[in-house]
Amino acid sequence: MAREQFGVCAEPSLHGYYLLFNALDDNNSFIRQALSHLPALFDKYADRFSEANLAGVIAIGTNYWDEIYPKGRPKHLRPFPEMASDDRIAPICNYDIYIEIRSDRGDVNHIVATKVCELLADSVELVEQVRAFRFLDGRDLTGFVDGTENPQGYHRREIALINEEQDAEFSAGSYLHIQRYRHNLNLWNSLEVKDQEDVFARTKVNNEEYSEENKAPTSHIKRVNLKDSDGKSIEILRQSMPYGDMKLQGLFFVSYCHSPEPFELMLASMIVGDENGHSDHMLKYTQAETGAAFFVPSLNVLAELGK
Ligand code: HEM
Repeated sequence: MAREQFGVCAEPSLHGYYLLFNALDDNNSFIRQALSHLPALFDKYADRFSEANLAGVIAIGTNYWDEIYPKGRPKHLRPFPEMASDDRIAPICNYDIYIEIRSDRGDVNHIVATKVCELLADSVELVEQVRAFRFLDGRDLTGFVDGTENPQGYHRREIALINEEQDAEFSAGSYLHIQRYRHNLNLWNSLEVKDQEDVFARTKVNNEEYSEENKAPTSHIKRVNLKDSDGKSIEILRQSMPYGDMKLQGLFFVSYCHSPEPFELMLASMIVGDENGHSDHMLKYTQAETGAAFFVPSLNVLAELGK
């Protein structure tokens, strides 16, 4: 049975390091070898710093997949969806390789990120690097707890990982979407707390969900809490983390799922909105600056890469 990369379903950690690369021409065979060695590198440092709960993820950009793994293609692999309405825009960036390093120690993440870059060496260009951190008790920089309604326990696996029936060749893999959001915290902090709470439809300090009748159709929760035609919840596993310095701050949004569709439906519900034109008012205070779609192969497919 195929094994998943452990970072996909890992519990939240204190520090994150996200590295986004583009492959340089004619290096595909070198890159295949390097990527196939990365899980062993993660294992080595997870062992060495066992208290840090290190977990990593290696993912391939949807536009790069056919070049790096011509042997086969995940059934629903497709590019990041094009989406824009008024001033709500989801920009698209085509990265070839995504590396997520998460642990409870920022120094361990730094060591591992350095080793990843050494291993990939001149075969790639580092296009984006984001250092992220847990903020207070798992809050986004808006001050609201993020991740409360995430799937828990075994359900994380059911939501995030492809099973044998869905796609036997790529089982234990996952469809990944990322967006780096930049918050306008000056504007956000000028709102009364009650107005901020209305934006999410949750209370701020106690993190309580509003009753159904009090949720505005434009609230974030209302826009992303979707049901399928059988009334079943449409879910993703979010592994987002806050990032920032004194100049810019925001959320590095990360979604894993057994299909690309749930993320696409949620994003459309936020940006385009419903039939009455209700879009997500959270987007008045934050703007995606990047967006990309990847596939996270199982450990078995990653090993195949190196052969
Ligand atoms: C700056 C960007 C974002 C921020 C600050 C943010 C923040 C939050 C917060 C505070 C919650 C409530 C607590 C929780 O259940 O986690 C939440 C819920 C949720 N968010 Fe976001 N979010 C962002 C972007 C997105 C995007 C892009 C999607 C999907 C396309 C998304 C999907 C969800 C889902 C599915 C829930 C759970 C809804 C429920 O079932 O109640 N979020 N988000």
